[in-house]
Amino acid sequence: MFSIAAYDSLTFTQLHQSAMKNIDQLTVLVTGASSGIGYALALQLAQQGATVIAWGRNLQRLQILAAQHHRIQIEAVDISQSLTLKTAIHQLQKKHNIDLLIHNAAIQHACQLEDPNYDTNHILEEISTNLIAPIELSRLFLPQLRQQAATRILFISSGLALLPKKESAVYCASKAAIHSFAEALALQVRDSSIHVTEYILPLVDTPMTANRGSGKLTAHDVAERIITSLQEPPRATIYLGKAKLLPFLLRFAPWIARRALQT
Ligand SMILES: NC(=O)c1ccc[n+]([C@@H]2O[C@H](COP(=O)([O-])OP(=O)(O)OC[C@H]3O[C@@H](n4cnc5c(N)ncnc54)[C@H](OP(=O)(O)O)[C@@H]3O)[C@@H](O)[C@H]2O)c1
Repeated sequence: MFSIAAYDSLTFTQLHQSAMKNIDQLTVLVTGASSGIGYALALQLAQQGATVIAWGRNLQRLQILAAQHHRIQIEAVDISQSLTLKTAIHQLQKKHNIDLLIHNAAIQHACQLEDPNYDTNHILEEISTNLIAPIELSRLFLPQLRQQAATRILFISSGLALLPKKESAVYCASKAAIHSFAEALALQVRDSSIHVTEYILPLVDTPMTANRGSGKLTAHDVAERIITSLQEPPRATIYLGKAKLLPFLLRFAPWIARRALQT
């Protein structure tokens, strides 16, 4: 029984944590699970006992993921297509109560606007996948999430949300918009037990960044750090690796950050 004495001995943080489900009790939707960080997140969450619904477009790679663990259920869903997305959400909600929603899928076209091979379709693809889909997923999952105790919405974002680079202008803009949206969404749900966290990542070694940069974190490492953070009291923003320097650099020496990224 829960006595007053026991209550007195609990700190606020402990109370908060006690409301959180253990990983092995979670049902998780991971978008973009066919590759990179999403793949690592889906696999590690399943290995820790969560039921994982893994979405991506490439069915073959999703099947390889599903073969790694029996707790992973896969579905090929192109989240940039609004009707496909709505149908997939509807089907999923008939079968599962999601208590952890991970917005991970994204696409990045690394080019300049005047590149002759870059056109309206590329812009629409980036904005639909990186911005509209997570907004729509959040909107359509909120009623279900509100009915459960202690649920979370995670946005896998980037340092480029705070400091854009020359190439990938649309990608950077989509991440900046996600940064703003995550903050506003957190305000909309602050009367509930839904917690919203944005993860600001540095360069990570995945197909998205193939042949680019050095000193990258591995997708495995990033997934491990994200999952560890789920067992801690929720925070609005979590910076990983070198991205931890960004808020300080942007405040006290923005020219250093700009020189590193924008030249
Ligand atoms: N890698 C980095 O350095 C880095 C840094 C900061 C932030 N991030 C963020 O981390 C997240 C994961 O990126 P990553 O590096 O792991 O990239 P990745 O290996 O290229 O994986 C991207 C995932 O998104 C999925 N995806 C793309 N378009 C989709 C669509 N229309 N519908 C459904 N799924 C779609 C892909 O599925 P298919 O392959 O099946 O199409 C793939 O599973 C992204 O949000 C990215 O912005 C990455």
